[in-house]
Parts: sequence; C-alpha cells; structure tokens
Amino acid sequence: MTTDPRDQDRVLIFDTTLRDGEQSPGATMTHDEKLEIAQLLDEMGVDIIEAGFPIASEGDFAAVSEIARRAQNAVICGLARANLNDIDRCWDAVRHARRPRIHTFIGTSPLHRAIPNLDMDQMAERIHATVTHARNLCDNVQWSPMDATRTEPDYLCRVVEIAIRAGATTINIPDTVGYTYPSESASIIRMLRERVPGADTIVFATHCHNDLGMATANALAAVEAGARQIECTINGLGERAGNTALEEVVMAMRVRNDILPFRTGIDTTRIMNLSRRVAQVSGFPVQFNKAIVGKNAFLHESGIHQDGVLKNVATFEIMRPEDIGLVAKNIAMGKHSGRAALRAKMRELGFDLGENQLNDVFVRFKALADRKKEVYDDDLIALMADTATNTDSDLLQVRRLRVVCGTDGPQEAELTLAIEGRDHSIDATGDGPIDAAFNAVRMLWPHKARLQLYQVHAVTEGTDAQATVSVRLEEDGRIATGQAADTDTVVASVKAYVNALNRLAARRAKTGGGDAREVSYRDIA
Ligand code: KIV
Ligand code: ZN
Repeated sequence: MTTDPRDQDRVLIFDTTLRDGEQSPGATMTHDEKLEIAQLLDEMGVDIIEAGFPIASEGDFAAVSEIARRAQNAVICGLARANLNDIDRCWDAVRHARRPRIHTFIGTSPLHRAIPNLDMDQMAERIHATVTHARNLCDNVQWSPMDATRTEPDYLCRVVEIAIRAGATTINIPDTVGYTYPSESASIIRMLRERVPGADTIVFATHCHNDLGMATANALAAVEAGARQIECTINGLGERAGNTALEEVVMAMRVRNDILPFRTGIDTTRIMNLSRRVAQVSGFPVQFNKAIVGKNAFLHESGIHQDGVLKNVATFEIMRPEDIGLVAKNIAMGKHSGRAALRAKMRELGFDLGENQLNDVFVRFKALADRKKEVYDDDLIALMADTATNTDSDLLQVRRLRVVCGTDGPQEAELTLAIEGRDHSIDATGDGPIDAAFNAVRMLWPHKARLQLYQVHAVTEGTDAQATVSVRLEEDGRIATGQAADTDTVVASVKAYVNALNRLAARRAKTGGGDAREVSYRDIA
C-alpha cells in the first residue's frame, strides 16, 4: 500500500496491540478477546491491524485467520520471520482478508546478524529470497530490518534497497530496543529517503519501543522526516517499557496540528473505550497519570487549576475529554435507578447492551448499589469487566467465602468452590486473609501454577469503593491473567485468582498440554 502522493499529510496508523503488545509476557488474550479488540480497532479507523504471528502457535494462526475473515476496512497483517515456512504460514492466515499484508523481518544490526551466524552478503541474499517469496504470494508486503537504529547506515541503505527491489511496499524502521533519539530517528528516515533508489515508491514506517521514554517523540520525529506509517499499540502496551502509544501520537498530531500538519483516519472518540477494553483483557492496568487515557489525565485537583478550568476550560486543558470519548462524568446512579437509566448510562459509557445482557448487568448493578450508596461510572465499567470475565460457564466458580481476621493470626478462610458445577468446601489458614483464601483454592483445586503478580486498585474513592484485582499465574511457560471486581477486596482477589486458573485450564485444554506458543518472534529461524 502506498499513500496517494497528492495526500502527503495522511499518516497511516498500524496497530500492533495484538502482536507486539500481546506477545509481552502476561498480556496474553483469549481468541474471543482478540476478535473483539480487532473489531474495535477496525471500527476506530486503524489502517493496518497486525493481528498476530501465525507460525507462533495454532491459537495465533486461528486468531489471525478469523480476524482476516471478519475485518471490514483495515488491512490485516501477519508477522513472519525471514524463512519460507513462516511466510507461507502467514499467508495462509491473512489470505482470507479483503486486504491482506505479509510483514517479514530479520535482525540486521551486528548483534542480530551474529545470532543466525550470517555475514552481510548471506543476510542480503536471505532478504532478497524471502521478500521475493512473500511478494509472489501477496501484493502488499512489509519488510523490517529489526534493530535498524543500531545497524550500520551503509548496510541499512543496502538492505532496504534489496527489499524494495524484491517487491516490499512498506519499509518499517524498528527501534527494537528503544535506543534512538528523536533527531536520530528523523535522520535515519531522511537518509533512507535520500540515498536509497526506489525510496519514493514505498511507504516508510516507524516502530519505536519506549525503553528511554521517547517512543512517541521518536515516532513523530520520523513522521516529520517523511515516514507515513506509525506502528503503535493501545495504551503503549508491549514488552519491557512498551511500544509507541496510539492515543499519544494520534492526539499529538491533532492537538498540535499547527506544527505537525498530518492527518490520520482515527475516530478519536473511540480511544477511551478501546483503552479500557485493552487494559481489561490484557491485565495491564493503565497508570493513573498516563498521557491521554490515564485516570487523572483530565482531573484538576488543585484549587488554582479547578478555579481556572471552571472559568475557562482552555486555561488548563489542551483537549476536551469528549475528544477521546470521555463522557460527562460522575452523575452517580443509586439503588433506585431503573433499567432504562442503566441502559442509557451504559450506552454513554460505550456499552451497547442487548436485552439478556442488560438483565444480567442490572441484577449485578442492584447488588452493588445495595452495598455501595453511589455507583459511579468507573464502578459500572469495573462491573462490566467483571461480568465479561467471570461467567456461569466457568470451570471453577467462587460460591461462598468467609474469612476470619485478627491481630493474632493465622487468618482463616472458609471457601466453597464449584468445580464443574459441583460444590466443594474447605477451611484453610494463611498469613493474612488473602493468603488463607488462596491456600483454600489450592487445596480444592491442586495446581502447580506460580503467582507472578498480584495487584489491587481502588475503583473510586471512599472506604466502600470497589477493588479491581489482577492476578497473573505461570504454569509450564503458559501465562494467564485473571481479573475481578468487588467491594470486598478478599472476594475480588479470590475471584481474580480463580479466573486466572480458568484461563490456564482453557489454554491447556486447547493445546493438549503442550506449550501454547511454540516460538517467539525473537527466535531466529
Ligand atoms: O521491535 C521490533 O523490532 C519488532 C519487529 C518484529 C518489527 O517488533
Ligand atoms: Zn517491536
């Protein structure tokens, strides 16, 4: 895909939440969650969705194929290492799309060349052969020299020229280890555009990691130098410090269009909903002070700020909350609010509920309103997440929990867990109520999964606030994140733990006990 030469201010948004984002340890999503996120990205106006790495596992292949079949507008892209098997597998998955793309890559820096033990000439030959093969299958081929920003400039020009001659239509320049600096990011793109024959026939893309906190700046600098595709993820999700955040680059180009005179096809009013959904399904909460989508991004605490905002919002706000889909907030609902009010509020928050779903949510809303005087928007969002994650068809379900706490421990937990529909009860002790309750789960459902992360967040202020809990478990290389919300932190913790166990069991069943992801894109073929 090339941009129309008459439309030089259009920047393509390439979202890799489902590939680079999802491959970060612990961010694993289920098949259905991937389909849902892909649909939301497609509806939001993302130009290219990198849907996964088809050779990595049967699950990745199935998700990429299904996303390809369902996508309405976006180009659907799959990742492939520089070998014919990977590329064939990738094509088999993306070929179902109205607009498929193969993305193939190889590490070109001295450190990366040493891994497959190829010299410069051998690597050049590999690039020629693999890009040619991909282009024979698909007329939309993206090629990436991994670790481009640490590749010798002359060699980078040479391999980019080879890839273009072999038929690549997009050349992506990854800053794989988040090492580059904005002026350097720009000068690499400028150099390639000036020195490489055929550079004016393809689109240059920028793919930045955030290890030094410069991913957004580096991506925008590359655009100023002529890149016309930004690779990014929702919430900046991704391994280590993550990738360029979609919401940051899109809003930067919109708010500072005076100095960044570029356009994207993104409907920015959908940003907040996607951000919440990705945080929920990945189990990676958004930091409170995160640019654009953080909980505090539009809050004005100090007296001076509040006064200024009340007189004129522009005093302290450079964008309007509604630009990213944040609706007028915090008109609390209570136990007298009816079904119609709940439906309207949910619609405002971006959830279009069918009749059955509304009934379920209404029952849970009433139960919450009984325990909590005022139910705020964030409570409803947490309740929706909990409804979507913990369902009646789960293998394990928390039926009843009672904990006894005191200053002179150990603490005790009485737990009833439904296992495949049959109730089982046990008493356990532990070092604190959470430990006691988790021990009870382990006794009723013995497993060897290791607890990697346990995180609690208060949804709103006040002692009656709901807690959302994330639990990450690891078992034989498989990682699953569970989540739950409740006004009782111990109940939310046990439900989140059980949710993670359900996810591990589902993945084990799907892969027949084998490792779910056989290869990583970091394995060199
Ligand atoms: O960071 C990176 O280099 C990548 C490539 C596979 C494009 O994600
Ligand atoms: Zn990457």
